[in-house]
Amino acid sequence: MCGIVGYVGAGEAVPLLLNGLGRLEYRGYDSAGLAVHSGSGLDLRKCAGRVEDLAQRLVANPVAGKAGIAHTRWATHGAPTRANAHPLTDCRGEVALVHNGVIENCDALRTKLSKLGHRFTSETDSEVVAHLIEEAFEGNLERAVAAALTRVEGTLGLAAMSVHDPARIVVARRGAPLLLGIGENEEATWVASDVAAVLEHTRNIVYLEDDEVAILTPSGHETINLGRDRGRVGWEPVPKEVSRIDWDLAKIEKAGYPHFMLREIHEQPHTVRDAMRGRLLAEEGTARLGGLDELRPDIDRAERIVLTGCGTSWHAALVGEYILEALARLPVEVEYASEFRYRDPIIAPGTLVGGISQSGETADTLAAVREAARLGAPTFGIVNVVGSTIARETRAGIYTHAGPEIGVASTKAFVAQVASLALLGLMIARRRGLGREEGRSFVRALDGLPALIGEVLATEDHIRRVAEEFADASNFLYLGRGPNFPIALEGALKLKEISYIHAEGYPAAEMKHGPIALIDENMPVVFMAPRGAVYSKVLLNIEEVKARGGRVIVLVTGRETDLGRKVDHVIPVPATLPLLQPIVNVVPLQLLAYHIAVLRGCDVDRPRNLAKTVTVE
Ligand code: F6R
Repeated sequence: MCGIVGYVGAGEAVPLLLNGLGRLEYRGYDSAGLAVHSGSGLDLRKCAGRVEDLAQRLVANPVAGKAGIAHTRWATHGAPTRANAHPLTDCRGEVALVHNGVIENCDALRTKLSKLGHRFTSETDSEVVAHLIEEAFEGNLERAVAAALTRVEGTLGLAAMSVHDPARIVVARRGAPLLLGIGENEEATWVASDVAAVLEHTRNIVYLEDDEVAILTPSGHETINLGRDRGRVGWEPVPKEVSRIDWDLAKIEKAGYPHFMLREIHEQPHTVRDAMRGRLLAEEGTARLGGLDELRPDIDRAERIVLTGCGTSWHAALVGEYILEALARLPVEVEYASEFRYRDPIIAPGTLVGGISQSGETADTLAAVREAARLGAPTFGIVNVVGSTIARETRAGIYTHAGPEIGVASTKAFVAQVASLALLGLMIARRRGLGREEGRSFVRALDGLPALIGEVLATEDHIRRVAEEFADASNFLYLGRGPNFPIALEGALKLKEISYIHAEGYPAAEMKHGPIALIDENMPVVFMAPRGAVYSKVLLNIEEVKARGGRVIVLVTGRETDLGRKVDHVIPVPATLPLLQPIVNVVPLQLLAYHIAVLRGCDVDRPRNLAKTVTVE
């Protein structure tokens, strides 16, 4: 949720930290701060607001030093104020700390520490960790951090510095992502919660595991495993593998677009191509998914698949349910990860569990796949971020290869997830009796998707004009049937996230069971009406809305002159196979939400209250 970046090396820390924070701002952006060691002490600067505000403060009131830690916050405990911004300190200001995650036993610890005389200056849960380090400090920061960890429950990724050590940062991970960047041609070591913060400087990355503490100095790092027994402090140095990241900087810049979200919407023809690259076997009419090889026997024996995820990833799972059931005739259930993890799920033999996640770090999805594994299910991930926790902890997986997604509202990651699920469905279907010819035509349809998305993108001006008419709306309804029902949910989610217009998605036929009461001339309704089995039924629903004065926007496939006379706006989309139509249909809905949000003056890439990666429950 929040973003952490830290640097220790030969260079001046402040510009490097500010730059890293800027790259992380999509993770949380309600307050920001940094601490650097000046050589004689720790200097802190922090503020409520954005990284730009922090940068301005530093111009007015500069600090300098060659080691520092910085943070951009998404508030959990305590309002987004300067006092609650990180870094946080102990009573004497001798320890500075930045923290991601949630300390679940912070109330009990705060009470105990207060009785011991500690004075708290923030309302955050994180501050208790600074005081625990102070309690345990006997001249060695890493030992004190390790001791503090034995007393906290919850999730953390943290970085700490001590006034006594000008060239040392101690970091620790338990449940919240943290990685180290190893300087390539310079004496420099980095810590970050996200590779985007360090990519400009190094592509040599070390991923920390839970219960690892690392000591960072300009010349490198040492990593210690604290052991699983949290009652005691273990102390076992662990060799760490260095991974090479193949993203380049261009992928995390706007490339001339006004917003990351628009860039990412426009990237989608490539996104779908990348998700399928090397995986389509045209001749055999199937897909090759090497990352699932290890699960092949389980997949062949599977009697049921549970797909789990949150938000947009959950919507992708719903589309996946339609695809897998129709194509492979394998029962699929979709569960919100946050519900699955706590509801004592039934995992009978023959059940596979797949976690879908762009970031690979979403706390609920991670907990759900862990719970599934604990109950004995073979697990797989459908994950975008390479090396992320869900990718590492599941037994097998499909990387979606969407590249970094910076816009907080997910767009390209969604189409990559659905494309990956389509590949999965095809592969399983062919192993369960789908004919080669049918497989081939599905492959051809998949192969044609990038061009179809390109056609939709070419209609952006028309969609912008539709947006102009509805930018003042207070509510929106999205309706679709079959595999387009999840697209109705996704269209509504996109709109509410970035424009703050209340929007709901429903299966079209459900409208008359309640939502129809909301229809009047102030209620725009977006229908998905591709030609197909339920087309005539959707037309009936459109008539029902028009009869009550509702304003109707319809996504249609092909030429629809008759419909055009009945409804307020038609958005034509090219047709593909019904099971793949969601991948095409979601694109105009993303554009509609984007343009409405821009017209309303909203901060599209950093919508209020949201964060890109939800690493807390
Ligand atoms: C919506 C959105 C969120 C995420 C959700 C899961 O635009 O981005 O709903 O889809 O927080 O995130 P991941 O996919 O990273 O697990």
